[in-house]
Amino acid sequence: PSSLTNRVQILLQSPAVVGAGIGGTATAYYLRQEFGPGVKIDVFESGAVGGRLETVKVGDYEYEVGGSIIHPLNLHMKHFVDRLGISPRKDVASKMAIFNGKELIFEESDWFIINFLRFLWRYGFNLIRMQMWVESILDKFMRIYQYQQYGYSFSSVEKLLHAMGGDGFLTLMNQTLEETMIGEGFSQVFINDLVEPITRVNYGQSVRINGFVGAVSLAGADSGLWAVDGGNKRVCSGLLYNSKSDLIPAKVTSIAVKVRPSKSGAAASFYEVNYIGEDGAAHSLYDIVIIATPLHSGKSDITFSGFSPPIPSHYPGQFHQTVATLVDGLLNVSFLGTTAAASDFMVSDVLTTASEGSIINSLSSLDPVHIPPGYKPTPASHKKVWKVFSSDPLTQEQLKNMFLSWNSVSETRWLAYPAYSPPQRKTPPFILHSRLYYLNAVEWAASAMEMSAISARNLALLAHHRWNEQDGKIDQEDLHTRLRGEL
Ligand SMILES: Cc1cc2nc3c(=O)[nH]c(=O)nc-3n(C[C@H](O)[C@H](O)[C@H](O)COP(=O)(O)OP(=O)(O)OC[C@H]3O[C@@H](n4cnc5c(N)ncnc54)[C@H](O)[C@@H]3O)c2cc1C
Ligand SMILES: *[C@@H]1O[C@H](CO)[C@@H](O)[C@H](O)[C@H]1NC(C)=O
Ligand SMILES: *[C@@H]1O[C@H](CO)[C@@H](O)[C@H](O)[C@H]1NC(C)=O
Repeated sequence: PSSLTNRVQILLQSPAVVGAGIGGTATAYYLRQEFGPGVKIDVFESGAVGGRLETVKVGDYEYEVGGSIIHPLNLHMKHFVDRLGISPRKDVASKMAIFNGKELIFEESDWFIINFLRFLWRYGFNLIRMQMWVESILDKFMRIYQYQQYGYSFSSVEKLLHAMGGDGFLTLMNQTLEETMIGEGFSQVFINDLVEPITRVNYGQSVRINGFVGAVSLAGADSGLWAVDGGNKRVCSGLLYNSKSDLIPAKVTSIAVKVRPSKSGAAASFYEVNYIGEDGAAHSLYDIVIIATPLHSGKSDITFSGFSPPIPSHYPGQFHQTVATLVDGLLNVSFLGTTAAASDFMVSDVLTTASEGSIINSLSSLDPVHIPPGYKPTPASHKKVWKVFSSDPLTQEQLKNMFLSWNSVSETRWLAYPAYSPPQRKTPPFILHSRLYYLNAVEWAASAMEMSAISARNLALLAHHRWNEQDGKIDQEDLHTRLRGEL
């Protein structure tokens, strides 16, 4: 019996996740998958479950005001809705145009061949080459799913990117999208007229964002984009429920590392999570903690104590402000420099070039998160719900210029995604301390729902392998060639 009591067996008591956005809830889901049914998983959330996935009610319907579109090849998001039994939202026809501050320089037609010829006339083969370029990056990006399927994980954002796309992906992180595309032989006119409107609508920023997030942004202009019926945030509450985690509605204020002496003499560290909930201040102890919110100024204020080297509350860099203004109103189509009658104006998405004095990044007519039976897109002569993205809140005057009248205006100010300015000197770490992890480091490569989901699975695997000292599944080189035979 004495040999039994002398054996030190460390049992995982309970992991904690800070943040219940798509990143935190996906982490809970994958932690359950890796650690099994026996562990208690706590998820802290100071705001609403969903985080940057959020809907707002206008009139009778709900609309997305945060993260809205999902790429058809975002396999984790696809897996989540399948697993949770949620459907994708019904498709509604849409039409895009590009506004240069004076007029529409491009307006999509119903006829593919007309769009094709217009582009060919103006930009030569740039568009086709861009689709091929984005596809070649996407091909490499897709490798991560196979690695994760086989249980491989990575200890830093750089190592994860390198495993997908080698040095080429790291170079993308270090160059602007503009430099990258000029280097690939794209024309400046094409970049200004077509690429920048896409980075402006997706990231509120110019083509001086890094090439990797730039490619993610351009993939966001592919066809087959989808959203979740009833609102994207449903995935977050679904994952929480499915993972049988305990949601703690509280704000985490600090995390301290404590040392627990054990009988064998080997000291094990654990984490004290301090938080303020409905019943005041409290703390709990955990073996593993995953931070799933940006550690950046304005996003969260968690202090770390007892760590050596110290962990900062905020990493260098800023988050970019994007204001989403939902206007239930009548558009002034002349604002777009068009002479078309409002009753003929069926454009649903107006992208913008970076023109002097431009105040808006995009203007889109929104469809509700759930498409009611018989729903049809209406022309601009009808009052409908428009979403304006801008860096600054819109003034009454600006609203009056864009809309003839309105029933309601609802404004959401987001610190939306990193303000990207390559070269990216140092990406924040995934590993903050031996069993303390940081999910949102990945946003400095690119911020998107799927990126948070990929990071979630990576950290659940990494936490599991490090716990069980399975080094063979961490940071393996050349996985692509090694796994090729496994397809
Ligand atoms: C306007 C906008 C448009 C976007 N469009 C798209 C898009 O079309 N497609 C796409 O894929 N992505 C899009 N994105 C990006 C996408 O929304 C984000 O990358 C993703 O939702 C991030 O999820 P997350 O869980 O990592 O972080 P978050 O959603 O930010 O979750 C973090 C959570 O942590 C909580 N929290 C913070 N501090 C504490 C604390 N101290 N204690 C407890 N809880 C705390 C927060 O309340 C929050 O709920 C968009 C984002 C915005 C803002
Ligand atoms: C990116 O640039 C930084 C500084 O400019 C440099 O330290 C780093 O090695 C570069 N990384 C790659 C992969 O080129
Ligand atoms: C509509 O927009 C045009 C162009 O910006 C502007 O001249 C006009 O005054 C606007 N209409 C109204 C009613 O505000």
